[in-house]
Amino acid sequence: MTQARPVNAIEPEVDASVGHAGTRIDLDDVTKQYQVGDVEVTALERVNLHVDEAAFVVILGPSGSGKTTLLNMIGALDTPTSGRVRLDGIDLGRASPAKRAAIRRTTVSFIFQTFNLFPALTAMENVRFGADVAERADAAERSAEALEQVGLSARRNHFPHQLSGGEQQRVAIARALASGNPILLADEPTGELDFRTGVQILQVLQEQAGRGMTVLAVTHNREISRVADRVIELSSGHIVADGPPTGGRARTADLQW
Ligand SMILES: Nc1ncnc2c1ncn2[C@@H]1O[C@H](COP(=O)(O)OP(=O)(O)O)[C@@H](O)[C@H]1O
Ligand SMILES: [Mg+2]
Repeated sequence: MTQARPVNAIEPEVDASVGHAGTRIDLDDVTKQYQVGDVEVTALERVNLHVDEAAFVVILGPSGSGKTTLLNMIGALDTPTSGRVRLDGIDLGRASPAKRAAIRRTTVSFIFQTFNLFPALTAMENVRFGADVAERADAAERSAEALEQVGLSARRNHFPHQLSGGEQQRVAIARALASGNPILLADEPTGELDFRTGVQILQVLQEQAGRGMTVLAVTHNREISRVADRVIELSSGHIVADGPPTGGRARTADLQW
């Protein structure tokens, strides 16, 4: 009987080369098609994108333009039909399932429109989960710090249903921070929130970019994109603009939406 090789014999340095601040993202000629019955939908077509700075990047585009698909490619949740996605030079399409899983755990964190907290876990336990998934040694300390950073230490023992939408989203951000992962992917993070709360969330995201994270936030709201360092605009699966916000960068306090 052959003995199973230990996982680390196949994947000697799963975590060694990715997952630091300034992690580089490269999409080369990425096309994604979905087959629905006998209809083929092209969600992304020959997209080229390079991000190598700690920055607040907004991906802007109308519904159906491919924003979520793009985020999922970067987060190794899905694979392109053709083309290549690399994180710090590592080709996700050629990485083994174990390596892809390791990259998901230790490089990228997701934030969603609907917060996606565990309802039966307290704020602190939700945040702690982020540190545990990424297998951070100092999980307890990190979690307390992360909750402090989003201004919610006093709510540590609250369950999600005892928190407002904005507070729940801040817990989700703290969970991402506690993971220590250098890339934060946020899909319509202010979509469920009123204007004032949405602005607070943008401020918290902006602070994370200031601390050395690469934050990619998706929105269909052009006003929101004004606070970004860089705006990548999608239309029907194509990048149609990429650069600083038109008219210059706005302060979150000056937004109107
Ligand atoms: N899992 C899927 N199966 C089939 N079609 C999909 C799937 N996900 C997205 N699409 C299609 O791909 C296109 C882009 O979708 P998506 O990336 O979700 O856009 P956005 O986030 O900008 O609204 C849309 O036409 C959508 O219907
Ligand atoms: Mg979407």
